[in-house]
Amino acid sequence: MVLFAGVAAAIAALAAACAADTDTAARSEGERLFNTKGCIACHGPGGSGGMAPAWKGLYLTEVTLTDGTTVLADDAYLALAITDPTAQQVKGYPMMPPNQLTAAEVQAVVDFIKTLK
Ligand code: HEC
Repeated sequence: MVLFAGVAAAIAALAAACAADTDTAARSEGERLFNTKGCIACHGPGGSGGMAPAWKGLYLTEVTLTDGTTVLADDAYLALAITDPTAQQVKGYPMMPPNQLTAAEVQAVVDFIKTLK
C-alpha cells in the first residue's frame, strides 16, 4: 500500500508538472502527429530513435551533416528538416522521405521535439 501511494503521488506530481507547461496543447498536438503521420516508425517510440535520429535531447545540440559540417538543432533547423528533408542530411542516416505536414503541424512537431529532454 505504501508503494502504491508513492506511485500515485508520483503520477499526480507528473500530471501537475504537465498541466503547468504552457506548451501543453502544442506538445500534445505534436505528439499526436508524431504518432499518426508515420514519424514514429523511424524516429522510435517517444522519439527514442531507430532507423532515424532520436529526438530525445536533440533540441539545441550540434548535429553533424553528411558533408561534415555541424548545425545547431534550433527551431529553424528542425522545421527545415521536416519541410525539406533533402536540404540537410544527418550523417550516418539515409535520406528521410517527404511528408505532407502543414506549417502549423510542423510547428507543433517542433514544439513536441523541444519537450523531449
Ligand atoms: C522512413 C523513415 C522516416 C520517417 C517515416 C520520418 N523520418 Fe524524419 N528522419 C529520417 C532520417 C533517416 C533522418 C536523418 C537523415 C536526414 O536528415 O534526412 C530524419 C531526420 C529528421 C529530423 C532531423 C533530426 C536530426 O537529428 O537532425 C527531423 C526533425 C525529422 N526527421 C522529423 C520527422 C517528422 C516530423 C516525421 C513525420 C512526419 C518524420 N521525420 C518521419 C527518417 C524518417
